[in-house]
Amino acid sequence: MADKKAQLIIEGAAPVELPILTGTVGPDVIDVRGLTVTGRFTFDPGFMSTASCESKITYIDGDNGILLHRGYPIEQLAEKSDYLETCYLLLNGELPTADQKAQFVSTVKNHTMVHEQLKTFFNGFRRDAHPMAVMCGVVGALSAFYHDSLDIKNPQHREISAIRLVAKMPTLAAMVYKYSMGQPMMYPRNDLSYAENFLHMMFNTPCEIKPISPVLAKAMDRIFILHADHEQNASTSTVRLAGSSGANPFACIAAGIAALWGPAHGGANEAVLSMLDEIGDVSNIDKYIAKAKDKNDPFKLMGFGHRVYKNRDPRATVMKQTCDEVLKELGITNDPQLELAMRLEEIALTDPYFIERSLYPNVDFYSGIILKAIGIPTSMFTVIFALARTVGWISHWKEMLSSPYKIGRPRQLYTGYESRDIPKLEDRK
Ligand code: SDX
Repeated sequence: MADKKAQLIIEGAAPVELPILTGTVGPDVIDVRGLTVTGRFTFDPGFMSTASCESKITYIDGDNGILLHRGYPIEQLAEKSDYLETCYLLLNGELPTADQKAQFVSTVKNHTMVHEQLKTFFNGFRRDAHPMAVMCGVVGALSAFYHDSLDIKNPQHREISAIRLVAKMPTLAAMVYKYSMGQPMMYPRNDLSYAENFLHMMFNTPCEIKPISPVLAKAMDRIFILHADHEQNASTSTVRLAGSSGANPFACIAAGIAALWGPAHGGANEAVLSMLDEIGDVSNIDKYIAKAKDKNDPFKLMGFGHRVYKNRDPRATVMKQTCDEVLKELGITNDPQLELAMRLEEIALTDPYFIERSLYPNVDFYSGIILKAIGIPTSMFTVIFALARTVGWISHWKEMLSSPYKIGRPRQLYTGYESRDIPKLEDRK
């Protein structure tokens, strides 16, 4: 992979040759590991131009709006696959055969229950706690229940932990919701598909078991697929960094959930709905576009912009199609928030400020409108994102641990005081 070289010329020092590595597709990278001989570091806050690792899981071409999972375009996975099949693909590198798929689905189904004692864990939270706060706690707590599979150097332990996390996230997410509602928590059912089971645990009660709408189950499954993985985003990088210290998988995923919660990342789906509520009416759009452009105003157009996509986020396109399908199937015509969102997109995408900065709708812009139509409260939106992204996080965790790795430990540019002596208390001014 390293047949080209970069030469670094530093005044007064011998030139430094740095290998250029080439992937199968996408930008080359300059391997700066040899830079330590110069006694200098690279400096790249926010990792705007840094590749943190080598990976075979997901490829994003931001300029052309392309997203591939193990080489398969997200549009094809959303159209022709389902979430558990996509989980198998991300975890194992290939789509399953019919037998492999049946086996995988059966294995996941047999791990959907959580330890009965975990229910009492919820009682430590206020009923009005933000669902993401509870998710951080209960997922981290899983470490306390699975002592039989915490040896991260053991491939079988890594495999069973991955299965347990994919299988239990819907159960935990639904428990978080039920706890906030003061309703009894529902057990998973093995006769339902992954998405049906989640909606069953969310919206059924022991008093009444209603059949799950196939339309809503398909939309839910599609939303899971669209959120499954996205290369080295902030939360995935957090999981990799936590994993590099040897932390157990449940602790690593809890760290990923915490990172995802921020409104600049996975918390944006919840923030989009709050923003649309704040804008309220099409007549206010111009005022909010002006706020988004005003450098002195912290307001940003939530659901717009992306570090990598400088073209449309392909997931947003599929999400918008799904949004139209779900609202039509549910007989929801002229949904005011959808109308407002579409007008906002239309106006923003004609404004030079957004065009010059390539700010397009991202995955979070339309997802909230579908989730709301399915009946999921806004406060649960990022929990859904965390549920779906768990397979991506754990796939990257497995990939990192499956070959030699080092603990992540960035350096810094220090601009603080040089060494100085402590003055006596009476001499301090
Ligand atoms: C996700 O990384 C991933 O892959 C994430 C994700 C995944 O699947 O894991 O795709 C999921 O997190 C999607 C993003 C969700 N976040 C939002 O929708 C929040 C709103 N978006 C912004 O906060 C922002 O666009 C980011 C955080 C998404 C990207 O920020 P960058 O790459 O650091 O870009 P930037 O902040 O430097 O912006 C560049 C310019 C700036 O203006 P100038 O200084 O050049 O004048 O664009 C402006 C920004 O002010 N800008 C926006 C804007 N986003 C960027 N201006 C108004 N509204 C916005 N939304």
